[in-house]
Amino acid sequence: MRIVQITDLHVGREGEDTYGVDVRSNFLKILEATQEKEPHYLVISGDLCYRDGDADIYEWIKGKVEQTGIPYEIMSGNHDDPVMMANTFGRANLLKGKELYFRRYFEGRPVLFLDTTPGVVSKEQLNWLKKELAEQKGEAMIFMHHPPLEGGVPFMDQRHALQNKDEVQEVIFEHPHNVNIFTGHYHVEKLIRKKNMVVHITPSCFFQIGQESTDFQVDHYRIAFREINWNNGVMMNAVHYL
Ligand SMILES: [Fe+2]
Repeated sequence: MRIVQITDLHVGREGEDTYGVDVRSNFLKILEATQEKEPHYLVISGDLCYRDGDADIYEWIKGKVEQTGIPYEIMSGNHDDPVMMANTFGRANLLKGKELYFRRYFEGRPVLFLDTTPGVVSKEQLNWLKKELAEQKGEAMIFMHHPPLEGGVPFMDQRHALQNKDEVQEVIFEHPHNVNIFTGHYHVEKLIRKKNMVVHITPSCFFQIGQESTDFQVDHYRIAFREINWNNGVMMNAVHYL
């Protein structure tokens, strides 16, 4: 099974200046490159909007993604509105209160999608995660916008890290198998392992963030997506830059 993950699109409103980056064109280029990989699934892991959730932006993204015909999942990031997103994408049935977390089956395998919009995994969601993992027999796969640990990027770690990462880690560590976690949010490419937790941070479709400084710094403007191939117990990952 092949999954493509794209993240942190940060699409602005029509005509809005987004740091001088043509984010709409970036997204379309990424989508084109995604199609060439012929994935079975596409995951868009949050921060679809530049600053705040916007129905017109969601509508535009939905139109472009659905033209590809690839089955896809959407998730909310800290620059999104999960309720507005679920409604616009026709997935209001997945909402639990105001949160958009859910389980899907990809070729028969359970895949979990979390909602970290406020920078925290809620109590209800943590309990749900615990139950979901307890029901899984083998290696698990989770998509979440925020990484559940520090990513070694001082600006992000100090100002924008997930607030209750220790609580999330406790739940993950209870699982007797590997838990593969795919995130965005940090605008960097990283692979971090801690015990049975393997965290893959995927670069943004906007710009990448400098990994040395505690101040905000753009590292570079090359955009990328992640390709995940998971077959016969082997998980192979590649990040492709355009
Ligand atoms: Fe984010």
